[in-house]
Amino acid sequence: ITVQIGTHEGAEVAPDLWGLFIEDLNDALDGGLNAERVRNGDFEFNAADRESWHALTGWTATPADRAAIREDAPVHRNNTHHVRLTGPVTLVNEGYDAAADPGERLRFSCFARTSGEGARLVAALGGEPAELDVAPGDWHPIEADLDAAGEGRQALRLEIPAGSVIDLDCVSLRPIGTDGRALTFRPDLLQSLKDLAPSFIRFPGGCVAHGLGLENLYHWKDTIGPRHERAQIPNVWGYHQSRQIGYVEYFELCQATGATPVPIVAAGVCCQNYPGGAVPIPDAEMDQYVHDVLDLVEFANGDTDTTWGARRAELGHPEPFGLRYLGVGNEDQITDDFRDRYARIEDALRAAHPEITVIGTTGPQPAGPDYEAGWAYARERGTDMVDEHGYMNPRWFHQNLDRYAAYDPTESKVYIGEYAARSNTVRSALAEAAYMVGLERRPDVVRLASYAPLLARVGHTQWVPDLIYFTADEVLPSASYFVQRMFAEERGTRLHPVAVEGAPLVPVAIPAAGTVKLRSGGSEVEYADMVLDGRPLPDARTGPGDEGVPLGGIDPSSCELAFTATRRAGEEGFTMVLGPEAPQSFLEMHIGAWQNKST
Ligand code: AHR
Repeated sequence: ITVQIGTHEGAEVAPDLWGLFIEDLNDALDGGLNAERVRNGDFEFNAADRESWHALTGWTATPADRAAIREDAPVHRNNTHHVRLTGPVTLVNEGYDAAADPGERLRFSCFARTSGEGARLVAALGGEPAELDVAPGDWHPIEADLDAAGEGRQALRLEIPAGSVIDLDCVSLRPIGTDGRALTFRPDLLQSLKDLAPSFIRFPGGCVAHGLGLENLYHWKDTIGPRHERAQIPNVWGYHQSRQIGYVEYFELCQATGATPVPIVAAGVCCQNYPGGAVPIPDAEMDQYVHDVLDLVEFANGDTDTTWGARRAELGHPEPFGLRYLGVGNEDQITDDFRDRYARIEDALRAAHPEITVIGTTGPQPAGPDYEAGWAYARERGTDMVDEHGYMNPRWFHQNLDRYAAYDPTESKVYIGEYAARSNTVRSALAEAAYMVGLERRPDVVRLASYAPLLARVGHTQWVPDLIYFTADEVLPSASYFVQRMFAEERGTRLHPVAVEGAPLVPVAIPAAGTVKLRSGGSEVEYADMVLDGRPLPDARTGPGDEGVPLGGIDPSSCELAFTATRRAGEEGFTMVLGPEAPQSFLEMHIGAWQNKST
């Protein structure tokens, strides 16, 4: 094989090309990157997060009737619930798979108050308990370092002796850093992100950025300041957002990893998947919203004599965060309300901050009506850059290696804000790698790209595939992680023409036997892990819009096909749709067993 590398002709690889996408899904933040070990330490979980949840979810009180949730004179108006403990009572937090491994030292803290002559709180992690006095009076912070000891992972155990009555809130347990301060980020996960050497980090999503309903829209100002002052809201992925990792922490994460921040703000409408549709921010509130977006730029970049620059300094960051990009919207439908709200935000940003690259949005798929409408709108407005998403099967990635050659470099640049080849296999990782070479080769069009989603706690996923899986004490990178890392570590800077001789492409012979797809009711469903005669099929994870799973090399006279898929509510089962050339004997299929799960 001869590989000829030609002379560099002036084109440079896009300097910020490889970055990270972070969203609070799959327990990525609380129970993940957030170093906090206490689950529901603020007693703010509720049924809007998940139907069965309540303010004591995560906690067990013994006896139960000595722990009462109260709302009187809260620690802050954004943190309305606390627990009143009337001793003798023991309160245990289940944490995220308990709290600590024996040998660990963690910083315990909480807010407490008691009346009368004071009270006593005993905190332990299976080892030497800390006996803490709670002074009489209003809410005040309490702190102690605890050593975990005993057999296996230990839960946080709080004991209130007989005679003591304490109100408790904002309970926390965090590892301690080398500087003696409680850590913000879980160190092993942080290291796994640093190792990806990201040029940028996009946050806070994803769907989380625009939320389900206006109440759920992500307002950055609600997420800064002391923990107990932050507004906590339900997470679109079916759990709770404590916002302990809020905008300052996202900026700090960028600093810690050397990445440039790419915040995404809602485009003045909530997510269209909300049962009420893409509700727009009321006209009368839009000016304030636009101001909030401009204030974000001031917060990130303003001098300390500006209002929001001063606020940044007050929160420990006199130096600017160096904001250069700002995304507006996420996979939105291009409705009239969207156009109107988006235009107001983009116009204001252009006028006040021409130095910021604004990123618009083009829907959830790399084709289709939202994609077309998003692009048409970006062209009409001359938007700097647009965000394209694509969760496709590996075949699609191979078929789209040179997708961006067809794009006009004089139009909006492209940020591939979310992409992944389905299935989390080496095969999908290789497909992504091939695609990424294609992205590197189109710097006149593609400026930024981030695999998504980034983090997933094993057993708590709402979305697969993901880049980095983790448990309480393990980091489990996917094959795709190593692809991302290789591209980031071995970062090319200049483009050279390459010619390969002597290695003709060898066609791989897979007997053509058509494809199979699943429908439930009128539409295609996502399905996964299709197994034929005990053998996982390639591209076995697929869904709406795909061409279907290829049924290569089977014995059509007798075979067993198994798959997992989500049945739509109210519908009986699935229809199997066979593509061209599918063996006729499939049509005489015998359905052995539907193992219906509750979903
Ligand atoms: O990455 C998971 C989700 O996929 C994001 O929240 C959304 O933008 C996309 O549909």
